[in-house]
Amino acid sequence: MKDELTAAAQRAIQKATSLPGVSVAWGLPQQAAHGDLSTQVALQIAKEANMSPKEIAQAIAAQLCKVPGVENAEVAGPGYVNVWLQSSVLLAELSATQNACHPQESRTGAPVIIDYCGPNIAKPLGVHHLGSHIIGQAIVNLSKHMGYQTLGWSYPGDWGTQFGKLAVAYEQWGGEKPPKDCTTEELLALYVRFHQEAEQDPELEDRARATFRRMEEGDADLRAFWKDVVAVSQRSLEALYERLHISIDIVTGESFYEEKMQPILEEGIKKGVFREGEGGSLIVEFPEESGLPPFLVRKSDGSTLYSTRDLAMIRYRLDTYHPQALYYVVDVAQSLHFKQLEATCRQLQWDLPEFEHTVFGRMRFKDASMSTRKGNVLRLEEVLDEAVVRAAAVIKEHGDQVQAEDPDALAEMMGIGAVAYGILSQNRKQDIVFDWAKMLSFDGNSAPYLQYTHARARSVLRKAGSAAGVPMPADVAELSVHERTLINTLLQFPRVLQDACAQRMPHLLTNYLFSLCQEYNSFYNTESILQAEEPQRSLRLALTAHVSSVLKSGAELLTIRVPDFM
Ligand code: ARG
Repeated sequence: MKDELTAAAQRAIQKATSLPGVSVAWGLPQQAAHGDLSTQVALQIAKEANMSPKEIAQAIAAQLCKVPGVENAEVAGPGYVNVWLQSSVLLAELSATQNACHPQESRTGAPVIIDYCGPNIAKPLGVHHLGSHIIGQAIVNLSKHMGYQTLGWSYPGDWGTQFGKLAVAYEQWGGEKPPKDCTTEELLALYVRFHQEAEQDPELEDRARATFRRMEEGDADLRAFWKDVVAVSQRSLEALYERLHISIDIVTGESFYEEKMQPILEEGIKKGVFREGEGGSLIVEFPEESGLPPFLVRKSDGSTLYSTRDLAMIRYRLDTYHPQALYYVVDVAQSLHFKQLEATCRQLQWDLPEFEHTVFGRMRFKDASMSTRKGNVLRLEEVLDEAVVRAAAVIKEHGDQVQAEDPDALAEMMGIGAVAYGILSQNRKQDIVFDWAKMLSFDGNSAPYLQYTHARARSVLRKAGSAAGVPMPADVAELSVHERTLINTLLQFPRVLQDACAQRMPHLLTNYLFSLCQEYNSFYNTESILQAEEPQRSLRLALTAHVSSVLKSGAELLTIRVPDFM
């Protein structure tokens, strides 16, 4: 329909101004009562055409009125053109967009690789990992939903000096229990203790480094210890991922690249990109204008680093999957690393596809007591547990409003959902603020509000006996303002998904879902649904069903679950 309107508007413009092929953009009018579509093209071209915008707008409106399917077109303000479509046209478009709730047909072409999660094993997971997991999974889900071949790839830190520290700590204070029977908590406690004791006794750090060296050189006992620790962590990660609705396609830990680094070091030396630095280390230097400091790729003691492994991983990904894009959903603290990494690949003349550090901001707690707990990192699981406790309190508080069949399950769904939504609803490029009150609010831009609205829509459908689905009537004589608004909001869903995916900006989707909830609730509060006459009753039920499926599929793309009852 938009194409026909555009063509008609262009014809009118050409006739009135003799400007050919002007591009015409359509948006929503500022107020729902002002129509279904609006364009400000007359204002944009008035100067060039040397005419008053109103005059051009009038010519456009007159032409648009003649397009079949248009109910009315009017000039508003200084030169806007507002268009009302016939209800049958709106309803037909709506049925067509229902498909957006389902995954799009797969596209051909090279895969998109999304690097996310990257938990560190044997170290506590901090809140910034929560960001990577949730934002990353939302971006993966959107990409798959839009039909792109997508590989969600986790790169756990399962190699490095932390294993030396843990091995030393275990030997000192580990007691009798074999490492494979330890819980993650016990291992983490050892890690924390190591750091506390190392403050008094810096010797410990040297021992940890030496121990890790032996591990790298293949010491059988240390290797066995490492394997056990990785297995223990794996188990607890699985439980965490189930809670967060994280599902990863490929996992290759840092250890996977152990054998793959030497050839890269050789290539870099041969190409003159890796040069000798202090004490026999290897570094990459960048042109002055890049402003980048040198990138260390091998330490003076010969050991490799995070940087070396990331290079090896890029090589592996390029050779194995020939991706069309590499996205790294990693926090802003690693910006420099990714700049140096990309610049190094370019110096090595690797044929890089689109490369992006899909950055997210620092995580901050509004409630200061959460941000530092006696100098320890705030652990990811603590945040989730706290969210669930707080959600349970909110459910209790709204006792008369919320009827939960299983309050514990609802608290889990709401608490985890609130954290995920709280993160995803912010522009990821800025600092991400944890504000419990906002995240758990019942009538704000929050998961509980979305969950509540979904349950409300489902309950309407249940009462109508049409939980399985309601066909959209082909036409109704007239649409109320609320109906029109709701329809126009629903019509935007495909476009929102497309933008959120293309820009890797999940908050575009949460913003949209929030406004859909608001529209639906004001529709619900103003129009009778079950008591309405036909065909209004069917229309309103069909709209309710459509809203509930958009809310559900939107939420699931964001890793959030919605209840049918609440
Ligand atoms: N394990 C890393 C960390 O905790 C994150 C990994 C990010 N991905 C990457 N390819 N470097 O900081």
